[in-house]
Amino acid sequence: MALTAFDPGNMPRRYRTNFINALSGFKSANLVGTRNTDGRENLALFSSAVHLGADPALLALVSRPPASDRHTLDNITATGCFTVNQVHADMIAPAHQCSARYARDVSEFDAVGLTPWYSGTLQAPYVGESRLRLGLVLRELVPVALNDTVIIIGEITEVFTETGAVGADGYVDIEALGAVAVSGLDSYHGTQRLSRLQYAKPDKDPAPLAAGGNTLINTLT
Ligand SMILES: Cc1cc2nc3c(=O)[nH]c(=O)nc-3n(C[C@H](O)[C@H](O)[C@H](O)COP(=O)(O)O)c2cc1C
Repeated sequence: MALTAFDPGNMPRRYRTNFINALSGFKSANLVGTRNTDGRENLALFSSAVHLGADPALLALVSRPPASDRHTLDNITATGCFTVNQVHADMIAPAHQCSARYARDVSEFDAVGLTPWYSGTLQAPYVGESRLRLGLVLRELVPVALNDTVIIIGEITEVFTETGAVGADGYVDIEALGAVAVSGLDSYHGTQRLSRLQYAKPDKDPAPLAAGGNTLINTLT
């Protein structure tokens, strides 16, 4: 194998961006739905969703440095809530288009043809086309002095997904929902499960896990 040496100082800017962005591997592709205090809807593509903990149910997003407007961060700061909507294979193009820098008064829902959907309890819009929709309330903003990014930490208070996606053991089969993974800033991938394994213990060899049944929460119809 020929190894490429890492020499960031000599990389042209765009090359360097593409190179570094690919290094963190496959990530989930999500559309983050918000509204401003006037009710104007906003939708943005984020690949930085990270599970922070299950109890409480915390999820973090990384908001880019303020080289341009950060509508999502501004709206979350102002309203204290947001939605995270998983992107599936049939909505890649409009989801990607949501990464374009639309003016603040433009709703990406209108611009790309996706449908706002409301749960009735959270004031942030969900994406009607998404098959896994999370509603979150803001718990903490963590500024990263190193590069001016902001880590947005939200607590998941609502989950909507499709009938049959949740197994008896609680596992959500996102592959069955057609969820896509993203690498870099422009490459979208389908997935194929290779195995599901039992909880690892030092004195046990890895063993396959059978798929679960159908216990459902807030299912979409
Ligand atoms: C694949 C992909 C992943 C992205 N992930 C993030 C992310 O995790 N955080 C972020 O701040 N911007 C991310 N962006 C850029 C935003 O989608 C883009 O800046 C968008 O215009 C932000 O919209 P807003 O100003 O309405 O919040 C990503 C773009 C692409 C194409």
